[in-house]
Amino acid sequence: MAENQSVLTSTDNEIQFYDFHPKMSDFYSEVVEGLKTEPKKIPPKFFYDETGSRLFEQICQLPEYYPTRTEQQILEDNASSIAQIIGDHHYVIEPGCGSCEKIKLLLDTLKPEAYVPMDISKEFLQESAQAVSDEFPWLDVHAACVDFTEPMELPFCPDEARKLAFFPGSSIGNFEPSLAQKFMQHVLNLVGPGGGILIGVDLKKDEQILNDAYNDNAGVTADFNLNLLARINSELDANFELEHFDHHAFYNADVGRIEMHLVSQKPQQIKIGEHLISFESGETIHTESSYKYTIKEFQSLGHKAGFNPIKVWTDQDDRFSVHYFEVPQA
Ligand code: AVI
Repeated sequence: MAENQSVLTSTDNEIQFYDFHPKMSDFYSEVVEGLKTEPKKIPPKFFYDETGSRLFEQICQLPEYYPTRTEQQILEDNASSIAQIIGDHHYVIEPGCGSCEKIKLLLDTLKPEAYVPMDISKEFLQESAQAVSDEFPWLDVHAACVDFTEPMELPFCPDEARKLAFFPGSSIGNFEPSLAQKFMQHVLNLVGPGGGILIGVDLKKDEQILNDAYNDNAGVTADFNLNLLARINSELDANFELEHFDHHAFYNADVGRIEMHLVSQKPQQIKIGEHLISFESGETIHTESSYKYTIKEFQSLGHKAGFNPIKVWTDQDDRFSVHYFEVPQA
């Protein structure tokens, strides 16, 4: 057994676990650096502490937030067609797998040789991977705790195996388009010639639908956004007063993205550790971009990364798309 490999068991099902000890982000220096740039920004990856992850799960259930249920419906409705196009004898790898919920919709139909969920958060990954194994006892599960944006060797997958990456949820939309293309290139290197990627991408659409999805009536998205300040207060010795910041989310049609901001309601100074940060009234912290693509735009991005676009599935209202791309054979 490799040094970084262990076997985990619960009930009757064992999973293989590989810990590559990913380097954690430096929350303090990234936040301070972001707040000292003009305009101020904080990377969206920091939304997801325990409270943020819980709020995100609530967002996914909101009537206004159509992406989650629409993508699930597309996967459910087209599982057979997806399986047919992808073919047999492949290994499914899922970078940033989170709770592994969406792959469960496909496993019985795809029947992969093995499932390789990857995430940076060790405990969460162990729990989610074990839950998949318990629900699909026939499936070989090899979980890898890694930062999948770093160059890496895939654990367990034989070199000659066909590899399919699964990247649902339109998480690709949270990357700047140039970084989205880089991510696709990275996946291409990971899956190699003959491999593929099945990826969920939110579509450009009526602006009202987009704006409503990020400005829900119950205020959960606002709480999710503001929780970032609460997290900074509790983990980084800061003194943001949440009542003096507003959630602001809007579709920026010029660049094709939803922008989320936190807007300072008044001139104020915030302390974070050793640093003092000044805000003018109306000044914002840009906390997230969520890019929306047309089908053609995303196919072109995938193509520039080196993939061949093979097939796209959408819902009947053309709100969301699931793309399948393949790497040309060497
Ligand atoms: C995770 N990601 C795809 C979500 C999105 O829609 O960009 C995050 C989110 N932010 C606000 N609502 C949901």
